[in-house]
Amino acid sequence: MDNQAKSSGASSFTSAMNLDQQGVSSIPQRYVLPPSQRPNIIHHDEHVLPLPIIDLSDFHDQSRRYQIINEIRNACKEFGFFQVINHGIDQSAINEALKAAEEFFNLPHEEKMCLFSDDVHKPVRYGTSLNHARDEVFCWRDFIKHYSHPLSDWLHLWPSNPPSYRKNMGNYAEAVQDLQTKLMEMIFESLGLNPSYLEEEVNGGSQLLAVNCYPACPEPELTLGIHPHSDYGSITVLLQTRSGLEFKNKNNNWEAVPLVEGGLVVQLGDQMEVLSNGVYKSVIHRATVNVDKKRFSIVSLHSFAMDKKIGPAKELVDDDHHQLPKCYNEFSFSEFLHFISNNDITKERFLDTLKIMK
Ligand code: OGA
Ligand code: NI
Repeated sequence: MDNQAKSSGASSFTSAMNLDQQGVSSIPQRYVLPPSQRPNIIHHDEHVLPLPIIDLSDFHDQSRRYQIINEIRNACKEFGFFQVINHGIDQSAINEALKAAEEFFNLPHEEKMCLFSDDVHKPVRYGTSLNHARDEVFCWRDFIKHYSHPLSDWLHLWPSNPPSYRKNMGNYAEAVQDLQTKLMEMIFESLGLNPSYLEEEVNGGSQLLAVNCYPACPEPELTLGIHPHSDYGSITVLLQTRSGLEFKNKNNNWEAVPLVEGGLVVQLGDQMEVLSNGVYKSVIHRATVNVDKKRFSIVSLHSFAMDKKIGPAKELVDDDHHQLPKCYNEFSFSEFLHFISNNDITKERFLDTLKIMK
């Protein structure tokens, strides 16, 4: 273990995988949520619209594209997320990335600890919970996070073990980055913006891959895999191996995002809420854990370039007040990182600090 790992909290580190491997029959107190925050209260609201699954096949075809963009607009307005199928990423690339993830988390504890850090600015870091240094209540997840775009800038810093990790996770990362570009064009179009809006910032933006492992948990009704939060970026593309992802609907109730075979979940982040001037909202979500099954997710968090300030698109702000006045202040990804290293995001949402009160 290097000195940096020691000084940044590694000595008090316990991973969810360690607890699972020890075969604990109850969860340590530090993981137990207060009753009101426990995950067992799923409401089954009557839906006006079913949870959206959007088929991206033939999206190059003009009339299909028009239809897809309509579906995206409805989904973004109603839910802040949708699932995509026929998205163009091969199932074999998905399976190989998941295998690399599984093999990574199966490595000996000491080996994973070489990549441990609580510093959110580290380009590659292994960790547990949401922010292990700060969380009052831990969550039942281990993660490895790494910057991924452009791949050649970061790949040499990624885990070198398992030996297939860089190649297989790298292939998936690149495929998702391409998909993200297409999705952003269509989301912009759905807002009435030019599809090439902020093209440079989208292509030159950042991609952070969060590879999550949620081991089986002896008391899943008392804890969560990840606390409620919204993602900071433009969009997030999430792959889950079993259901567990939940989002907060318009009635403030939690709903499960069903597992769609071969599907990917696309969620709107804070930058998209700000850019759309609140026409679209970033989605608050969390993950539950399972009593006997391990769950993995590979979460691709996209954002505009690190220091690029994102504010409401001027096309969506109407100073004559026919439309919405400007509702948010600008922010950059680096300002978000500063915020999360100094605040507990389970208590205060970064987005709320940007809202302009009228
Ligand atoms: C995340 C996240 C949920 C999941 O990593 O930001 O929300 O299901 N993950 O893994
Ligand atoms: Ni998230």
